[in-house]
Amino acid sequence: MSKDQKGKVENEVMDSIVSLCKRRGFIFQGSEIYGGLAGTWDYGPLGVALKNNIKKIWWKRFVDDREDMYGVDAAILMNQRTWEASGHVGGFADPLVECKKCQHRFRADQLEADASGNPTKKCPDCSGALGEVRQFNMMFKTHVGAAEDATAVSYLRPETAQGMFVNFKNVLDTFHPSLPFGLAQIGKAFRNEIAPRDFIFRSREFEQMEIEYFVKPAEWSKAFSHFQEQVHGFISDIGLNASKVHELEVPDGERAHYSKRTIDFEFDFPFGKKELYGLAYRTDFDLKQHAEYSKVDLSYFDEENKERFVPHCIEPSFGLDRTVLAVLTDAYTEDSMGSEVGDENEKEKRVFLKLSPAVAPFKVAVFPLLKNKPALVTKAREVFGTLKTEFAKAGLQGVTFDDNGNIGKRYRRQDEIGTPFCVTVDFDTIEKGTGVTVRDRDYGKQERIAEADLVKWLVEKVK
Ligand code: GAP
Repeated sequence: MSKDQKGKVENEVMDSIVSLCKRRGFIFQGSEIYGGLAGTWDYGPLGVALKNNIKKIWWKRFVDDREDMYGVDAAILMNQRTWEASGHVGGFADPLVECKKCQHRFRADQLEADASGNPTKKCPDCSGALGEVRQFNMMFKTHVGAAEDATAVSYLRPETAQGMFVNFKNVLDTFHPSLPFGLAQIGKAFRNEIAPRDFIFRSREFEQMEIEYFVKPAEWSKAFSHFQEQVHGFISDIGLNASKVHELEVPDGERAHYSKRTIDFEFDFPFGKKELYGLAYRTDFDLKQHAEYSKVDLSYFDEENKERFVPHCIEPSFGLDRTVLAVLTDAYTEDSMGSEVGDENEKEKRVFLKLSPAVAPFKVAVFPLLKNKPALVTKAREVFGTLKTEFAKAGLQGVTFDDNGNIGKRYRRQDEIGTPFCVTVDFDTIEKGTGVTVRDRDYGKQERIAEADLVKWLVEKVK
């Protein structure tokens, strides 16, 4: 397949995923009724459920299951000195170039080179002449309070990390942890990206799940390797295909100003291999900078060796929206299967999300075979109630009831939103007491399960 053909197919896949997300209530364009706002996306009911499942899995692995991690939820607006100290006011910029004719703006480093391999001087939209490249700071600036002078300037945080560095001393003073220990946070970050693109991959408002893990200077390498493994552990927890994840050792000269070592975890998205997560050794850069700018001592006293020093920091950083996109693109599947209603020999094309039960918005959907038979509906409601209660006891959510349209349509709808199991109450359930049918999303195979065994059977499969 030529590169052009490949590009087209990949875009078709992305178009199908974007349209599924809108059609089924995962993700909508931000401010859609007003024509949208570039680089912003709104999550609908299923998108929120998917996102929350991912957040819970992350929090469990990195906070709840460990003794050395402390969760925080810092303010998005921070004192402007934070961003001077961190280097973002001076250096958080992308190269911007503007077309002199149509005034469209581009990220200079993302434009294709001309035929001789030099940076293009022509606008990709109108072929007009491009102006000089200048640095464009990506932080959203705002004013806090009624005054709009320089002292009131603040920024929407471009990373959650700084909310943890400024709370290092608070956690140290209140919990007295010994090194190594970490702070963890999930929250929004904002970047005025020059060219938001590829659906939720690069947006202007997004969520990060970050850890700042503080260590003795000599122990950074051990902690770095530990989190390198943990990143893969998390990728496996959420059911992502490990063969689509690649590590890239970021070379000297290409790392962020604070980093002495960075690994990018890249993922095979339909539009190419792109950064999913980052792991950085931030040294003592941030704590030292904040100590200097705030005049607050951010050192640590090591009781064992009776020495005082500024801890070094390892930072695993996970984009939540990129995780959602990786999960959705990985799960998106088209196949054809024998019709489950009507002619068994008739092949139908179907689209389904092969989501891991761990992240799927719904794990189980319960149906009455027919909507207009009260006895079936009553029994299906009873099964639904029992499953909901028992799932909650097992620490699970995601049981739904569906009686919209005919059974074939319900299967297709649940396939499209990635529900792994559909339970149907039919006439045999109520007349012969032979149990319910459970249909497997991936194979379309149905099994009859006795009512008494249903909870155990499903909980085992889902867990
Ligand atoms: N604290 C370190 C930091 O923010 P980064 O590589 O700039 O490092 C970390 O961002 C992660 O945040 C990325 O790996 C990516 O998953 C996510 N991310 C960054 N910019 C993004 C954007 N514009 N839209 C969506 N996710 C983004």
